[in-house]
Parts: sequence; C-alpha cells; structure tokens
Amino acid sequence: MSSRPTDPPRGATPRKVTVPDVRARKGGEPLVMVTAYDAPTARIADEAGVDLVLVGDSLGMVVLGMEDTLRVDLDDMVRHAAAVTRMRPSALVIVDMPFLSYHTGPRDAVLAAGRLVREGGAEAVKLEGGQRRAPVVRALVDAEIPVVGHIGLTPQSLHRMGGYRVQGRAVREVERLLADADALVEAGIFLLVLEGVPAEVAAMVTERVPVPTIGIGAGAGCDGQVLVIHDLLGLTPGPAPRFVRRYADLHGVAVDAVRRFADDVRGGRFPSRTESYRLPRETAAALGLRPSRTATEGGGWN
Ligand code: KIV
Repeated sequence: MSSRPTDPPRGATPRKVTVPDVRARKGGEPLVMVTAYDAPTARIADEAGVDLVLVGDSLGMVVLGMEDTLRVDLDDMVRHAAAVTRMRPSALVIVDMPFLSYHTGPRDAVLAAGRLVREGGAEAVKLEGGQRRAPVVRALVDAEIPVVGHIGLTPQSLHRMGGYRVQGRAVREVERLLADADALVEAGIFLLVLEGVPAEVAAMVTERVPVPTIGIGAGAGCDGQVLVIHDLLGLTPGPAPRFVRRYADLHGVAVDAVRRFADDVRGGRFPSRTESYRLPRETAAALGLRPSRTATEGGGWN
C-alpha cells in the first residue's frame, strides 16, 4: 500500500496534492503519476494513492479506439477530464491540451486551457514541445493556469518524427532537448514529462532543471514515473513496449468473466431464483399462479 508523503494518518481523508507540493518533491521521494480517463480509472488511481493523475490524450488510443492522439479534440478532453474530477481525487489532476488547441497561438491556448479548467476541472494542463511553445506556456502561466511541459518523444509530432521513435540519441538532439527544457522552465512550467529518451539524457535534464521531471520510457533517473493505466493493468492487448511493466492482466480476467456469464446464460444457469424478483403471494394467487416461497427473496427492489 503506497502513501503520499502529504497524507494525514491512516483512515483520515488524504490531503489534496497541490502544485506547490509537486514542486517541493524535486529530488525527493519519487512522484507517481498514472493516466485516468473516466470515473472508474480515477477511483482506482486515487485509492492506490498516486500523486498525480493525467487525463492524457492517449485517451484517443486506449479508450476511443483512435489510431493516434492527433484525432482527439478539446470536447473529448473536457468531457473525460470532467468525469475524472467529479470523483474528487486527492491526486493533482493534470489534463492534456489536445493537438491544435495551442499550436495557433497564446490566445487560443488560454481559451482552450480555460475550458479544461472551467468545464473539466483541470488543476494544471500539459502541452507538448520545447522552445517554440515558450510563448504559449508564458501566456497560460500569466492566466494563472499551471503548466506541465512534455519533451522527447511527443506523440502529437508523430509525422515529423516519422513514427514513435526514441529521441535524443545524437549530440545535436541532446543539446536541443537541454535547450527545450531550459526554455520551458524559463517560461514557467512546474513539472516536465520526458518521454522516449535515453536514460542518460533524462538524467542530464533532471539534474539540470529546478522542476521535477516525470519519465516514461526515460529510465530511472527522473524525479518520478508515469504509465498509461490501461498498460499497467493489462487492459491493452498485444505485446507492450519495452518501458511498460504489466502489473495485472485485467483484459484476460475480464474476457474470462464475460465468457463464464455467456456459458451460464446459454446453459440456463443465470439468473437463479435469488437473482430474480417474485410476485407477492396474494398477487400470484389472484392470477392463479402457484405461490412462491417468499415474495421478496433475494432482496433489492420489491
Ligand atoms: O497522453 C498521455 O498518456 C501522455 C503520457 C504518456 C505522458 O502524455
């Protein structure tokens, strides 16, 4: 059972994780982040005691059956962020800004992030990209919206990168990543996600920047780690990428459960008497039916 360092004693309501709490964890106990997209995943993440919940635009692939994150729009993110924040998680809720919601300039970005905050309940937003995004980060911070940066393998740059490829393997690329991290920090981010970069590069960035870093496919040298919740629970079928550790096989468990339900229905074993409602004795008698043993066996509705 994990516990947040900010948690009060066992049994008490966990204290809400805040942006200053996250900042203060630089170099301290590793931060734990998972994605969540709806009420059930938000509840699972929060009951497990994670520090940060990310309503990621991976939503498109793991929940909405899309091919990539480029097809996710602002309405999708608002709706799923609201489902997560309705659960009132103690974890800090960060929501991804989808493709094209911030690429057209700071004003559009503030309006889009404003919807994520007002309608979705976001407590911070995350956007992809380095130096080029600094003006947008500055505008969001000026509008009192905390911002998380995301550099390295940035899925919204899928076509420019030529696929989901590890970034920062050549010296020039490493130098660019360091400059990107510096620019984002200077613009005001409070947290930086490093995705798909060599462990050495992530460790260099982590050592260099004053804000915590969160890695995914970026080795153990970051200030914290994030995984897509469907990956770690084994809800995404097929072989997982190298950086995913599967802690459960919920897909297998779920398929088995539905198969057993189907077998019971086809074999006449579902529902049982106790899973059915019965007529009251007098009604059964008036209808000329044989009385059942009790009128309300099984409980629940009458
Ligand atoms: O959308 C997402 O899930 C993400 C994480 C992989 C960092 O951005």
